[in-house]
Amino acid sequence: MLIRTGLLIALAVFTMNLELSYSADRPEVRGTMQRVFNSLMNLQPFLVNNDRFSDPKNRAIIEKDLKELSAIKHAFPKKMKDEEPGAAAISSLFGDYLKDVRSRYKHGDYEYARNRTKTVTGFCFGCHSRITTSQNFVDLSKRVENLGLQPDEKAQFYAATRQFDRALKIYKEILASQPSDEMGMIRFIRGLRHALRVTVQVRRDPKETYELLEGISKRKDLPEFAQRFVSQWKKDAKAWLDEKEEEKLTGETLITKAEKLIERAASLQAFPADENGDISFLRATNYLHEALDSDPKSPHRGKALYLLGAAYYALQEPALWDLDRLYFEACVRENPKTDISKKCYQRYSDKIYLGYTGSAGTFIPEDEVKKLMELRKISE
Ligand code: HEC
Repeated sequence: MLIRTGLLIALAVFTMNLELSYSADRPEVRGTMQRVFNSLMNLQPFLVNNDRFSDPKNRAIIEKDLKELSAIKHAFPKKMKDEEPGAAAISSLFGDYLKDVRSRYKHGDYEYARNRTKTVTGFCFGCHSRITTSQNFVDLSKRVENLGLQPDEKAQFYAATRQFDRALKIYKEILASQPSDEMGMIRFIRGLRHALRVTVQVRRDPKETYELLEGISKRKDLPEFAQRFVSQWKKDAKAWLDEKEEEKLTGETLITKAEKLIERAASLQAFPADENGDISFLRATNYLHEALDSDPKSPHRGKALYLLGAAYYALQEPALWDLDRLYFEACVRENPKTDISKKCYQRYSDKIYLGYTGSAGTFIPEDEVKKLMELRKISE
């Protein structure tokens, strides 16, 4: 997968936390979100139909709504470096993603632009799965039912806008169905992954997670690779279920716990993108976000950033596939000349080399090479 140069400009990563108080301080976040939500709704009828999406008659309105979506980037400016970097990092990736979509749309690359716009909900979920508020956006949902979305698209839309009960209900229906062809199987497996992100990351509920997997592990109609990771996930959910309730953990304990989970998850992987470790990786991100949110100035912050990078690297979330790199970069910049900074630089550069290596060799753009050199110097 090639890394676009545009992504690099965004960087230097940083920062805000996602606690409820944040948006209370900044009502413009809410205002932006409501506009973004409306634009996403407006776009749906075009997204389900390529003729409508590519019809020149609809151009002005589609371009307007795509532009409106980009507003998110401005709602999350770079801020103090001692806050949790996640939201600013996600919003920066989101900004680059939309820039690409808008330019491809403009050049008539409709199928590509349409598919990419369909998956922007991954970014919405990326932030909203971590906001510590119980408020769901149900009141905004009325129009969704009539949009003609496929069940998994509808569920994703609900999850992205924090209507988790509705989303889970649909995922469970998908998971109770018998896929009749390859596309059905793809939707089934994707539905399973998304459902687990809700039960593990949002709800943090070992029982619900275990029950979901227990049901699926009995199925013999799934492809072998899926049976393999379902069986591992079930074991991990069981281990989680059997852990005794702990009192509220503090920063360092949270990080240590996450580190153990990541070690365990990595040991389950047979290759870097192997999904076998996902339940433990997902759980680890919860503890790490919690640690950084509760104590952004922790002396273990560098380690937490490193571990977050490692977890997101393994999870390979399509929308957030570059998030790991932003965590590694934040870790290098914040901890010059330390061991952790060297480790983070190593992971950062591995990702770059891999990203630019294809069948024809390795070609790294010049600005990317400059950045590698800069980060190496900071780390050493
Ligand atoms: C960079 C992080 C981030 C991304 C990306 C993001 N959001 Fe949000 N969103 C937030 C935060 C923070 C809040 C405020 C939560 C609160 O105060 O409860 C929020 C709240 C909302 C709200 C509720 C607004 C209200 O009236 O309270 C809606 C609707 C919403 N987002 C829609 C979306 C949609 C649709 C997308 C994707 C296109 C999206 N958001 C992407 C961070 C994000």
